[in-house]
Amino acid sequence: MGFEEEEAIIRSYDGEADRARVEDLERRCEVGPAERVYLFTDTMGDPMCRIRNSPMYKMLVAELDKELIGVIQGSIKVVTVHGRPRDLARVGYILGLRVAPLHRRKGIGSSLVRRLEEWFIAKDVDLAYMATEKENDASVNLFIDKLGYIKFRTPAMLVNPVHCHPFHIPSNVEIEKIKVEEAEFLYRKFMASMEFFPNDIHNVLRNKLSLGTWVAYPRGESFGCDGQVPSSWAMLSVWNSGELFKLRVGKAPLSCLLYTKSSRLMDKYFPCFKLPYLPDFFHPFGFYFMYGVHRDGPLSGKLVRRLCQFVHNMAAKANKDCKVIVTEVAGHDTLRHHIPHWKLLSCLEDLWCMKALKNEFHELTKTPPQRALFVDPREV
Ligand SMILES: CC(C)(COP(=O)(O)OP(=O)(O)OC[C@H]1O[C@@H](n2cnc3c(N)ncnc32)[C@H](O)[C@@H]1OP(=O)(O)O)[C@@H](O)C(=O)NCCC(=O)NCCS
Repeated sequence: MGFEEEEAIIRSYDGEADRARVEDLERRCEVGPAERVYLFTDTMGDPMCRIRNSPMYKMLVAELDKELIGVIQGSIKVVTVHGRPRDLARVGYILGLRVAPLHRRKGIGSSLVRRLEEWFIAKDVDLAYMATEKENDASVNLFIDKLGYIKFRTPAMLVNPVHCHPFHIPSNVEIEKIKVEEAEFLYRKFMASMEFFPNDIHNVLRNKLSLGTWVAYPRGESFGCDGQVPSSWAMLSVWNSGELFKLRVGKAPLSCLLYTKSSRLMDKYFPCFKLPYLPDFFHPFGFYFMYGVHRDGPLSGKLVRRLCQFVHNMAAKANKDCKVIVTEVAGHDTLRHHIPHWKLLSCLEDLWCMKALKNEFHELTKTPPQRALFVDPREV
């Protein structure tokens, strides 16, 4: 136990007193390995924006001699799980852990996590989990070696840039926006058994950040009002994350900088090639997150691709600020082959770590990965 661990006070976040100091701390903390592109998050005056849409949430800060030196956030919800003792579990998600560079390796990060776990336990949470880049040694060691979390899933974060050239959607594909009630019906019917499906999907779909749900199917076929679906179909919903916070590349390897510049020049002088250039990531930008991607039937892979292209066109047309489209799928999910993405921008092996906060859930943390995983847009 370090000296500062004894001295630092850990307390709930106070918007008035802490807002500017938390934003300043966020600016000073680079997340992940030094050699990778670092993304800076601009919470636009609301450091709690990433948890505010969850059913229950909390933010804690660590203070030492009136200096704010650490922060952590957590949210709670009920999701589908596979394994004993139940098929629904109350899960606590840990995010936004930051410790000021000069105060690291003194136990502050561990103390913040433990205090958040205490809040989870008081709220009857069964399992705690967090997501990190697998190369983030500090975070992986902290959670796995020090705090007893285990590696749970390795989903792929797929990122595609938005460019000004719209995709052509062939006329043999019907794309239709469906009502929230229909979307909820379809999600509960076809996806409720998927790992991490949120029990309060109705809140997600009705949130003002959720721009809607679209289905795609071969023209000539139709959706029945009783839930009858075409022979092949696909569905997804879109969440406007850029409304909550902006991203900006804090630093990037030289190759990435050169690529950005040269691809922009190519696009300027040879627009007929319709080369997708890398947008300007050095100024704050927003993004759309595609969630609840589902497909069924022999043509459904192509239909997913069409839906993604449709979302791209929507972003390019309606939202100047939206520079990338992001989605996250389970590590083994073949969906990734149908979702357009750039490897350069994507993280093909994100790491989710989990810990049972109740003994009876211990076995569940060891269940093998399912084919599919529901990634909640509120946790991006
Ligand atoms: C990750 C972070 C929060 C750790 O905070 P911290 O206060 O230094 O953590 P602790 O002092 O409690 O460290 C506990 C254990 O974590 C591991 N650890 C922490 N920093 C490490 C590092 N740089 N390299 C390797 N292991 C590290 C060690 O096992 C350490 O135990 P030890 O000091 O007895 O060896 C901090 O490095 C940070 O803010 N990083 C930038 C933001 C980030 O990556 N957040 C995590 C996002 S999920």
